[in-house]
Amino acid sequence: MPPVVTLLNQKGGVGKSSTCHHLAGTLALMGRRVLLIDNDPQSSLTQGLWGPTHARCIDPAETVAAIYRGEEPFPDQVIRPSGVPGVDLLAGSRAANDFNLPRPQDQPYEAQTCLREFLSGVDGYDITLIDCPPNLCLCSWAALVASTHLVVPLQAEDYGAQGIMDVQDSVAMVQAGPNPDLALLGYLITMFAPRKTVHRLYEQQLRDLYGSDVLATMIPHAAEYPEAIAYRKPIVNHKPKGAAAKAVRALADELLSRLSDAPCMKREVA
Ligand SMILES: Nc1ncnc2c1ncn2[C@@H]1O[C@H](COP(=O)(O)OP(=O)(O)OP(=O)(O)O)[C@@H](O)[C@H]1O
Ligand SMILES: [Mg+2]
Repeated sequence: MPPVVTLLNQKGGVGKSSTCHHLAGTLALMGRRVLLIDNDPQSSLTQGLWGPTHARCIDPAETVAAIYRGEEPFPDQVIRPSGVPGVDLLAGSRAANDFNLPRPQDQPYEAQTCLREFLSGVDGYDITLIDCPPNLCLCSWAALVASTHLVVPLQAEDYGAQGIMDVQDSVAMVQAGPNPDLALLGYLITMFAPRKTVHRLYEQQLRDLYGSDVLATMIPHAAEYPEAIAYRKPIVNHKPKGAAAKAVRALADELLSRLSDAPCMKREVA
């Protein structure tokens, strides 16, 4: 099965959606066919790709909400071109909010596994990235159940407040229950400002605590990332030669190398 990578942290604003957006564009330029799933009812990823007006007008039946509603859509009913070459999108919808219930482990099994069921009928992608809301309710849980791997974006600030331990608890519960094969791909430090002492301090603490589980690549704090999204582009298409694009390329390389055991992550261009 091609890798399905969830980007999750229950802390808000740590760069989950931005990472999905920019990473997808870079992976596509590297020849991967990428499926993005906007699994957050806020639908920031969809807005970043299609603009807020378009994102608000989509019929929920053509979004991830159709899956949560139990409509069992066929992939071609809900997966659309993202506007970025090589990247398709399963759009998000506010309508998914009704299903994003707390204590997901107590929800019906069909609700916990609906995304996995959907993805079992999807082919043609080398990698799927799932953006999640900043909580550990049913949508995030369903993503963990559907995923082979997890990336946890976080800022190098007070790591105790970064939601890592709650994510770890959810991951352990998913591994002990519906998805024993879920694997951590790494903690990703985002919005890193090397001139800030506090960032360097917490980076070191994270590396001391979690060792190689912390990805070597860090995403710097840079105005170019939100700027690229304002232009509806991944950074690699917006400013391909800049340091911001270079960081995302390094991230893609590192993730692909960590995924290299997965049989379909071929290096050749599709
Ligand atoms: N590396 C970066 N440098 C500068 N700004 C960034 C960077 N990454 C993200 N941002 C900005 O920070 C804000 C939060 O980013 P983003 O929406 O990706 O976080 P999130 O974790 O998906 O948030 P939420 O939890 O609300 O879904 C956005 O305004 C985004 O443009
Ligand atoms: Mg987000």
